[in-house]
Amino acid sequence: MRILITGGTGLIGRALIDLLLPEGHEIIVLSRNPARVTLPAGVQVAGWDARSAQGWAHLAEGADAIVNLAGESIAGAGAIPARWTAARKRRILESRLNATRAVVEAIDQARAKPKVLVQGSAVGYYGGRVDDVALDEDAAPGDDFLAEVAVQWEAASAPVEAMGVRRALARTGLVLSATGGSLPPTLLPFKLFLGGPLGHGLQWWPWIHIRDEVRALVFLITEPRAAGPFNLTAPNPVTNRAFARVLGKVMRRPSLLPAPAFLLRLALGEMADLLLKGQRALPKRLLELGFEFEYPHLEGALRDLLGR
Ligand SMILES: NC(=O)c1ccc[n+]([C@@H]2O[C@H](COP(=O)([O-])OP(=O)(O)OC[C@H]3O[C@@H](n4cnc5c(N)ncnc54)[C@H](OP(=O)(O)O)[C@@H]3O)[C@@H](O)[C@H]2O)c1
Repeated sequence: MRILITGGTGLIGRALIDLLLPEGHEIIVLSRNPARVTLPAGVQVAGWDARSAQGWAHLAEGADAIVNLAGESIAGAGAIPARWTAARKRRILESRLNATRAVVEAIDQARAKPKVLVQGSAVGYYGGRVDDVALDEDAAPGDDFLAEVAVQWEAASAPVEAMGVRRALARTGLVLSATGGSLPPTLLPFKLFLGGPLGHGLQWWPWIHIRDEVRALVFLITEPRAAGPFNLTAPNPVTNRAFARVLGKVMRRPSLLPAPAFLLRLALGEMADLLLKGQRALPKRLLELGFEFEYPHLEGALRDLLGR
């Protein structure tokens, strides 16, 4: 297959490439800085401005799939999460809308349309919550900032359906990886014997092992029945308190010291919601279509990622 990946230089994109490349697929990554990108040999890197189809639209011609992941980092690029200033919030939203509109424009211009658009999204769609309600793909959207971003990001990709292109929405949960994302910073307090729940710890964390995340993206590419929204989350989400307990067990460290919510709010402002709230999201539609998780339980996922 010929597969175009926007934001393919990020955490998920790189893991997706690692899965697809050995299978002999042709991979093209769209990056804003193609000259500085280091990706495995065999991957084609093309430049784009992430806001228009100019200069790269021909690459969409006859592609088997486009996977649209590009967007300003939600937590910030550094090791410590960056506060959501008004300017960052604008970049988080607009970068996703602009990139998606550019993808739609390229698909519109293609005479031979790509077969499928796998559109990035997030379980933040359902809003940050502190309840126990199980959320499948039929659940209503939330009304906080990240919900607003996900709703608009998904909607921006909708026009491709009228162009005859299958569209699958990847509502991704908290991706667990040893090389980036939220897990590595979570390990530090545990290493220092200071680990524990964040706030009261009753918020649900809809985690997914990076390998299942990218296997699910490939499933959405190849499964002809896969259209509409899909929760990309493990079938056994846990509360943050349970997450801390399992992580402590795997790391052989205590996990009882809670990080006070007010301190997290003081340090991170509104962004603390990302840690103190969550969603009990379930991958109902992936399971219905027969997707099998390699890491359905947190302990197995963490043991694999941490080599313990
Ligand atoms: N990781 C998670 O836990 C998670 C959970 C839910 C949803 N998601 C979503 O899934 C997508 C991929 O996640 P990821 O963790 O792989 O993200 P990531 O590591 O931050 O990578 C995203 C890529 O998007 C491009 N990008 C960054 N800022 C941009 C901007 N202002 N305008 C256009 N492109 C920009 C970058 O590529 P270039 O610099 O090469 O252009 C970057 O490599 C993201 O949109 C993210 O919101 C991730």
